[in-house]
Amino acid sequence: MLTLLVLISGSGSNLRALLEASDGPECPFRIIAVGADNNATGLEHAHEFEVPTFVVEPQKFASREEWGKGLLSLVREWKPDLVVSAGFMRIIPAGVVTELTPNLINTHPALLPLYPGAHAVRDALAAGATETGATVHIIDEGVDTGPVIRQCVVAVEPGDTEFILHERIKVAERGMLIDVVHDIATKKIVLEEFVY
Ligand code: GAR
Repeated sequence: MLTLLVLISGSGSNLRALLEASDGPECPFRIIAVGADNNATGLEHAHEFEVPTFVVEPQKFASREEWGKGLLSLVREWKPDLVVSAGFMRIIPAGVVTELTPNLINTHPALLPLYPGAHAVRDALAAGATETGATVHIIDEGVDTGPVIRQCVVAVEPGDTEFILHERIKVAERGMLIDVVHDIATKKIVLEEFVY
């Protein structure tokens, strides 16, 4: 059984999809804790599924590095096999990445290396892209630069707003994230093989 700790910042629809997928007896992964950098609305999903949560707010620490140490110590309390950043809108400090890699993955709403950062969907629209998508990747010290595990393509439709396009991406993204975590749990994906 692969144990997961999921990090979120917002509505947590990816978290919810993972919680629902992990609910059946056949599922090879289980979410043991959820962390957030603020009192995110998505924490409600964890409460509903009776999964423990924690909040680690950067404002309560003297520096980013200190916040990273706080985050790492909370993560370590749970000893998860895999940490999943699913809409966690913070750059994880290098010291934390070094400790957790390669068992630290992120989902991003674009076909990386295109449109990294916090406004990927807006940036794809502004660039006039006709297709975009989502990427699950291993987190490294850069911003959305780590080794790509899987991607899915989503068409940009005429009249798309940032919200509409992001919602369409998230439908594909959630399915892909569940599949990737499932494949890690069943060892079809071996994360060490992506890091060189
Ligand atoms: C997801 O699309 C995720 O890829 C994105 O935030 C959304 C969270 O949705 N993350 C980033 O943009 C990180 N750069 P959710 O809260 O409904 O799961």
